[in-house]
Amino acid sequence: MKFFIDTANLDQIKEANDLGVLDGVTTNPSLMAKEGIKGEEAVMKHYEAICDLVDGDVSAEVISTDFKGIVEEGKKLAAIHPHIVVKVPMIKDGVKALKWFSDNGIRTNCTLIFSAGQAILAAKAGATYMSPFIGRIDDSNWDGMELIGQISHIYSVQEYKTQILAASIRSPLHIVKAAELGADVCTCPLDSILGLLKHPLTDIGLAKFLEDAKKMNA
Ligand code: E4P
Repeated sequence: MKFFIDTANLDQIKEANDLGVLDGVTTNPSLMAKEGIKGEEAVMKHYEAICDLVDGDVSAEVISTDFKGIVEEGKKLAAIHPHIVVKVPMIKDGVKALKWFSDNGIRTNCTLIFSAGQAILAAKAGATYMSPFIGRIDDSNWDGMELIGQISHIYSVQEYKTQILAASIRSPLHIVKAAELGADVCTCPLDSILGLLKHPLTDIGLAKFLEDAKKMNA
């Protein structure tokens, strides 16, 4: 399973990249706004800076909602850097645009997936990735991981090539479960990635080893 970081914050992207386990980045308009990025030129420059930092796919989301607008915006985004993957919402014109991008060699990430039916449409339209929003499903009192399992089964039975990108991750356990259920990619906040490191027995064990190591030098 590939690891993407779900942020537009350059320091967090650097920190995750320095770990050596990062395969890409996902952003969305909310994450870009959180970094205070304003205006088309600044947005483009910020995507370029992210692409220069990480040797992997970087999802950049369109904000148009009509076919023509999505295609025009997607072409501009894709021209920024070869790492760019155009993120397109799961709406009617979005599906049409996914097919257009697929036919024209532009890679895509279909976002805001909340059902297996939407996942089938994204695959049929030729999306490179599609992003089920696990945490938001959990927040609405359903089981986000159940959806990952269902999509994983359908994609394997139907031999769809679209990659399952587990998104809206809230904890290290979500990452483990997504891996178990066959997600191809997990996009996570930095805290959830670092949370995978933690185990009290590791800390206790290391403290004991370091204490005993002193005896070897005594
Ligand atoms: C996916 O690509 C989205 O950017 C993201 O995972 C949404 O997460 P949230 O539900 O924490 O906003």
